[in-house]
Amino acid sequence: METYGCQMNVADSEVVASIMEHDGFQITKTREEADVILVNTCSVRENAETRVRGRVQGFSELKKKNPKLLVGVIGCMAERLGEKLFEQEKNVNIVVGPDAYMDLPMLVEKAKKGEKAINIELSLTETYKDICPSRIDETSISGFVSIMRGCNNFCTYCIVPYTRGRERSRNPESILKEVRDLSDKGYKEVTLLGQNVNSFVYKNSESQVSFPELLELVAQEVPNMRIRFATSHPKDMSDDTLHVIAKYSNICNFIHLPVQSGSDSVLKDMRRKYTQEWYKDRITAIRKIIPGCGISSDIFCGFHNENEEDFQETIELMKWARFDLAYMFKYSERPGTFAYKNLKDNVPENVKSKRLDEMIHLQNQISLENNQNDIGEVFEVLIEGISKRSEHDVYGRTSQNKVIVFPKGNFEIGDFANVKVNSCTKATLVGESV
Ligand code: SAH
Ligand code: SF4
Ligand code: F3S
Repeated sequence: METYGCQMNVADSEVVASIMEHDGFQITKTREEADVILVNTCSVRENAETRVRGRVQGFSELKKKNPKLLVGVIGCMAERLGEKLFEQEKNVNIVVGPDAYMDLPMLVEKAKKGEKAINIELSLTETYKDICPSRIDETSISGFVSIMRGCNNFCTYCIVPYTRGRERSRNPESILKEVRDLSDKGYKEVTLLGQNVNSFVYKNSESQVSFPELLELVAQEVPNMRIRFATSHPKDMSDDTLHVIAKYSNICNFIHLPVQSGSDSVLKDMRRKYTQEWYKDRITAIRKIIPGCGISSDIFCGFHNENEEDFQETIELMKWARFDLAYMFKYSERPGTFAYKNLKDNVPENVKSKRLDEMIHLQNQISLENNQNDIGEVFEVLIEGISKRSEHDVYGRTSQNKVIVFPKGNFEIGDFANVKVNSCTKATLVGESV
């Protein structure tokens, strides 16, 4: 299994691994040992697809050595390109979309016989609720659980609603079971996943469970585990959710709240369904209800008609919001989206690059200053691993999702430690246990 793209794909790869293991397959450590290579792919920007194509083309050598080797492209690129993948990439034998993984064993059998093996049907109901994901990285202490699939928002630039299909929420019972399973296996942290978790709602004849209610159920179910979630959409980010975070000490004080742009006219063209003012109100509510909460965002520049004034509004918003971390991109036009058909990709590439540089420069400065403000403070840290720089140091995360490095002492991976911050860079805090 090789995984590209977002956390949903990481979670899906574990579902796929479980489905394949039930059929007698095993995960291999190296690609040379594999009979089947499944590449779980992303279509969100063009460069995400280019990377996967390069990877798949690189399998030619392996296929020469092992003519029986089968290569499957699964996930969002499979969904977007379907049959075309067989024509465009000669190494591809199997193509499977995100809702058709139950069919994988059958499709592998088909491919073995040299037949075309493809299923890219999207489903209105599939949530893989009865699959217990097999945890690929067994040393890990932090796991993902999908609580919903798909997206109904149709932001005009975004391919996800086309590759992932309609939004559907998973049965809370099966979510709780999976979280408990992680806890039983010794996991210390769980991240609940969906493209827009705030719109989670599970209904049956007797009752209805909303996102804040689910969050509360999870917090009570595994009181010794840390709980995170992603991604929140600003239009649906409710005070109810913020109050649940504030109420439970095991729910991390961290929110990823993608803003995309600071300009109302660009936000309107993006069909984000909020204004700059609304977004600021949500940030203000977070800071009021959860003091000290870590906040990160996604922002991209160069969308249709974005002029210098629009862009400066994004810069001003970044200065106002002071995100701890931001993922920043240039607009990449995606075939099939509303913007592709109706909103011309009319900001020149060199302007996009210049704007991206300006955003990155500013955010680096803000991240550094935010980290400097933590110096002298003490945070509870979940230890995730041994530092890559020194075997005498460990690294972990604060509740606010900041990475911190400190001397190992007698700590083990998976322990919680209270750590005082002594210094920092823009990306990392450095401290000592107290
Ligand atoms: N569901 C999440 C985002 C999923 S995609 C949300 O609504 O926030 C992750 C990020 O990729 C988005 O937040 C956006 O910043 C970026 N993105 C999506 N489509 C893009 C495109 N066509 N070009 C550039 N960036 C894009
Ligand atoms: Fe894409 Fe918008 Fe859905 Fe996020 S909310 S996945 S950006 S359509
Ligand atoms: Fe990419 Fe699909 Fe995730 S397009 S961002 S892998 S939902």
